[in-house]
Amino acid sequence: MKRTAAIVGAGPAGLYLLANLLEADAFRRVDVFEAVPAPFGLVRYGVAPDHPKTRTISKVLAAGFDYADAHYFGNVTVGQDISVADLRRCYDVVVFSTGMRGDRELGIAGEDLPFSFGASELVAWYTGHPDAPKITLPDDLRSAVVIGAGNVALDVARLLARDPDELVGTSMPRPVVDAFKASTLTDVHLVARRGPAQAKFTSPELREIGKLDGVDVVVEPDDLVLSPDDQAEVENRRQAKTTVTVLGEWAERSPNPAARRIHFHFWRRPVRILGDTAVNGVQVEPTRAVPRASAPDTILPAQMVVRAIGYRGTAVPGLPFDDGSGTIPSADGRVVGDDGPLPGMYVTGWLRRGPTGVIGTNRPDAGEVAASILGDLPELPVPDGSPEELTALLDQRNTQLLTWDDWHRLEAYEAELGRPHGGDPIVVDDLETVLRVIAQRT
Ligand SMILES: Cc1cc2nc3c(=O)[nH]c(=O)nc-3n(C[C@H](O)[C@H](O)[C@H](O)COP(=O)(O)OP(=O)(O)OC[C@H]3O[C@@H](n4cnc5c(N)ncnc54)[C@H](O)[C@@H]3O)c2cc1C
Ligand SMILES: NC(=O)c1ccc[n+]([C@@H]2O[C@H](COP(=O)([O-])OP(=O)(O)OC[C@H]3O[C@@H](n4cnc5c(N)ncnc54)[C@H](OP(=O)(O)O)[C@@H]3O)[C@@H](O)[C@H]2O)c1
Repeated sequence: MKRTAAIVGAGPAGLYLLANLLEADAFRRVDVFEAVPAPFGLVRYGVAPDHPKTRTISKVLAAGFDYADAHYFGNVTVGQDISVADLRRCYDVVVFSTGMRGDRELGIAGEDLPFSFGASELVAWYTGHPDAPKITLPDDLRSAVVIGAGNVALDVARLLARDPDELVGTSMPRPVVDAFKASTLTDVHLVARRGPAQAKFTSPELREIGKLDGVDVVVEPDDLVLSPDDQAEVENRRQAKTTVTVLGEWAERSPNPAARRIHFHFWRRPVRILGDTAVNGVQVEPTRAVPRASAPDTILPAQMVVRAIGYRGTAVPGLPFDDGSGTIPSADGRVVGDDGPLPGMYVTGWLRRGPTGVIGTNRPDAGEVAASILGDLPELPVPDGSPEELTALLDQRNTQLLTWDDWHRLEAYEAELGRPHGGDPIVVDDLETVLRVIAQRT
């Protein structure tokens, strides 16, 4: 007997899993529920718009929908439009791959001031996420502080500093491009609590910073003094070696009178975000005692702060949740409740592992979870309901859902929007327009 599965979340993890399940030919139907109209999760609403090549992975991720047994339900939020209990009643297998949407917090004074953002807020805005509040950059923006030493921090620093004319051909919604064009920013300060040898940057992303037209990179030579532990890290980890080498090359460059600068500040942690009615600076303190040729800056002037210190998951109502890690407790992808594994319930992707790993990391992750599912399948109880009942329930609730054909319609519309700008499709960032476009279905 062939079985049925529901996948909640159409990001990379969910879509790699979809392909795995359908390849195994053990399912008569696999339904994918996605909270926003468009699929692909952070590939669409995370990957930087000036990295269009990376975003083309969506073509690979879409391959699961080539199977006739795969169905897409866009604009359906599980926990809101339908419940976890509805899904458990109607499918043999339910897999959660809802990723992470919020930001970790620093827990310091001033974090809630206007123009202090979590990276997820800024990223959701500049990629055109339909639920993202529209951001207005400060009128007097000259200097921004970005906290964190990972690739998200680099994305944010690069997009803030990059010549805005280079953003015109990207997928960014036009009001976002206009906001970057109007920005008067000249300096971005990237603040890392550890050293270059411990930074999480990957090498191509770091090197790209040094190649930006009209942007000078400023590195303090004192930050590059390596302790014996740092030295060991550099010898043992290629990425650490590249980071230290690249930063060393930049530290020796003669200052270039460029329009904008990105400053790297290592071994500093923010202790307070300053300002009365809005951000006007960040107080930082050193995290190691190394004599400096110059006095360490203790206050970095800034009209805007972005903390890029990691995303954070939020609980899906009806599921166990580990508040500390922001993940769903699991064993080999099986969701574990208070009394052990919950039969037929699985988790994959960032929601399983936490907010690290590139798109490709989700492929073996989904493979492991698919192996657990396929191994469990003969013993899983048959549900009382069916996917057809679930679909009827969605109809009754009058949800304005998108099918896979609707997504193609939206995709074509976005490609048309991009054509006059000679570039990528432009992301539609509001639900009303999406629903208007799909209402024209014949
Ligand atoms: C800013 C940023 C930039 C990145 N850039 C790159 C890059 O350039 N290259 C790279 O290799 N990796 C990049 N990554 C990492 C990569 O995006 C992740 O590894 C990957 O997206 C995680 O996949 P996921 O499926 O677990 O989660 P997600 O991609 O977050 O997908 C989760 C999906 O679940 C949906 N969902 C959430 N809640 C519900 C619900 N209740 N009901 C239904 N659906 C729901 C969401 O809308 C989303 O579509 C980046 C990450 C970030 C944060
Ligand atoms: N182009 C790309 O390939 C690309 C682009 C974007 C994202 N991604 C991937 O997406 C994943 C997530 O990226 P990310 O940048 O969000 O996470 P990340 O790589 O884990 O980096 C988070 C950074 O925040 C710092 N941090 C954490 N808590 C902090 C605190 N309280 N105070 C100060 N600093 C703090 C960490 O420092 P410590 O190390 O000291 O903890 C680290 O430098 C990564 O796997 C990344 O590679 C890839």
